[in-house]
Amino acid sequence: MDTFLTVEEYEAAARDRLPADVWGYVYGGSGAELTLRANRAAFERLALRPRFLVDVSRCDPATTLFGARLSTPIGVAPMAFHRLVHADGEVATARAAGAAGQLLVVSIFASRSLEDIAAAAAGPLWLQLYWLRRRAVVIDLVRRAEAAGYGALVLTVDTPRLGRRLRDVRAGFAVPADVTAVNLDAAVTAGTHHAADGVSALEAHSRAEFDQTLSWADLAWLCGQTALPVLVKGLLTAEDAERALAHGAAGIVVSNHGGRQLDGAVASVDALAEVVAAAAGRCPVLLDSGVRTGADVLKALALGASAVLVGRPVLWGLACGGADGARDVLGLLAAELADAMVLSGRPRLADVDATLIHNSH
Ligand code: FNR
Repeated sequence: MDTFLTVEEYEAAARDRLPADVWGYVYGGSGAELTLRANRAAFERLALRPRFLVDVSRCDPATTLFGARLSTPIGVAPMAFHRLVHADGEVATARAAGAAGQLLVVSIFASRSLEDIAAAAAGPLWLQLYWLRRRAVVIDLVRRAEAAGYGALVLTVDTPRLGRRLRDVRAGFAVPADVTAVNLDAAVTAGTHHAADGVSALEAHSRAEFDQTLSWADLAWLCGQTALPVLVKGLLTAEDAERALAHGAAGIVVSNHGGRQLDGAVASVDALAEVVAAAAGRCPVLLDSGVRTGADVLKALALGASAVLVGRPVLWGLACGGADGARDVLGLLAAELADAMVLSGRPRLADVDATLIHNSH
């Protein structure tokens, strides 16, 4: 396998390797992809204020989340169907994250079983849920996750249905028959495979199967069904952060779904500070969407994130070299974070605060 020096290089190599429709599904955003681009632009606009003549001979990015130790505050965001990009799917991703001592959030649409993923994992695992109309299916997954040792649940709330992703619409994208959301029964997943011209099968499927009546009371209900901490993923405002905490959330993931849901939504790193302020230390706040370098991670931590999740880059690594490729991408980001901590004079996470961000306004 080739080894690349940046996430961008993995991206270019993955584009060469993947079928065009799969590439479009993984890469794409919704609508005019304004939010997809805004996520990157926002990170690039933020500038760091390095400090010097600090002893940086020991750099320690390790942290703890919900009692689990992470070698670095970088985890894998929940993404459906890893087998679209590599035959081993989420089992390979779990090996990669475990080898790096990093967190993996498994999607409800994982293409390997929760139990097989747990067997391959050496690090913490969380399970992400969408709220399906068939509530019993969701609760069955919660029980399986508890039994298999998953450490937290992540309820994604920005997806009453999938955003309109034009690349998938144009390609008539449907999930190939040999890749399935194996943790759900066939009646729930059949629609993901229905190919039709000018239709994204996943968008159509989400309209049929996702429960659009979901409200805050349902979050409280879910929290009452399990002893696992429940994080809410997809929040972008202080108001919703307050509500999430009032309804039992144990953590928040600030995210715009990598620009795949509401096009025109604020870049997630631009929404981070207000959510952190609203949470006021009551729960961990994580961030995803657009993290591509270790310096991006450092910027998010400086703005108050406890950790970041990385999406597409992990699939690019997986596409390039299975578990080894995904591990290399995670290792690359971890090494870049350590480099940024050393070069900015913040060798410990406790030293990383808002004074690291240049205020250009
Ligand atoms: C996702 N995302 C996602 N989120 C979620 O809660 N459940 C899911 O099943 C999926 N599936 C999914 C598939 C693919 C191919 C992508 C690219 C993304 C969103 C994901 O968790 C995360 O929010 C973004 O990917 C983060 O942005 P970056 O790092 O990809 O820019």
